[in-house]
Amino acid sequence: MTTTPPLPSHADVQDAARRLHGVARVTPVVRDDGALVPGVIVFLKCEGLQRTGAFKFRGMYNRVATLDEDLRRRGVVTASAGNAGAGTALAARLHGVPCVVVMLQNAVPRKIEMVRALGAEIMFVDGTAKELFAQADRLVAERGLAHVHPCDDPAVIAGQGTVCLELVEQVDHLDAILAPTGGGGMLAGCALALEGTPRSIRLIGVEAQGAAKLAASLKAGQRVEASNVETIADGLAIGWYGEMNFEIVRHHVSDVLSVSDDEILRTIADAWTHLRLPLEPAGAAALAALHKHRDAFAGLRIGVMLSGGNVDLDLLRLALQRQSTAASTA
Ligand SMILES: Cc1ncc(COP(=O)(O)O)c(C=O)c1O
Repeated sequence: MTTTPPLPSHADVQDAARRLHGVARVTPVVRDDGALVPGVIVFLKCEGLQRTGAFKFRGMYNRVATLDEDLRRRGVVTASAGNAGAGTALAARLHGVPCVVVMLQNAVPRKIEMVRALGAEIMFVDGTAKELFAQADRLVAERGLAHVHPCDDPAVIAGQGTVCLELVEQVDHLDAILAPTGGGGMLAGCALALEGTPRSIRLIGVEAQGAAKLAASLKAGQRVEASNVETIADGLAIGWYGEMNFEIVRHHVSDVLSVSDDEILRTIADAWTHLRLPLEPAGAAALAALHKHRDAFAGLRIGVMLSGGNVDLDLLRLALQRQSTAASTA
């Protein structure tokens, strides 16, 4: 019989922060007064500068660090679009734990290279996120590995929450925080982190239009699956929301916005042009949503989770070409 672990709490995020101290980077916050989003004071939390290029390392490290000795000996497996895989591979290496990462055949090359360079065994699957998870489950059954879930796990959620704990320590008087959401670990972690802050800061989730399910799930009062999964944001390309994450997020999130691939590409180009900041599609989603809804945020101080920077150069080039075509036809 499997039992559902209890939901993590604000105290778990604080414990994770202590565990990550000196291991994860305290990533910088860049203030932008209108160049990127006219009329809005934006504080960009640059998690592309985190180890392995994304916030994911925080949660995966916290999970591996809290595994018991027996599971550490047997090793870990994670199913991943790439960033959870790289984060787990590094966390496993730091703990001397064997690691298998199940990835899609068409994963972003930079992410595959990173996982490989970190010494993890890669198992490729040709299919969708569902097949990825099924393969990870098979490895748990066959090899006795510990499944390090990329988003729906108490230790992972708590670890992801540390990015938000850090942001509210770095910036005073934020009115709202926008965070991208795929399976929900980042957003649930942020919700828990904000539970401990005295001032009420609105938390807004941003999903990819091509993998949208959170807004519909909140409306339905239960998790519903995305009707399709087709987005350039590989980090958000999951058709269902995590069970624990939904339970946490439903009580804390004030709004959910969505962005198209075109809006994401435009933001990738803008961040490069104005700040020379590389953003991968999932990492650009929250900023794209802020730009799209800028009138609603006029004059406010908004924190934005730039969750990852592992963009392939071909995609960055495509975004910049589109930007210059749009400028020449304007
Ligand atoms: C860069 C980036 N941003 C956001 C997300 C979404 O995170 P979550 O699945 O915890 O919602 C991911 C997930 O892989 C990611 O890689």
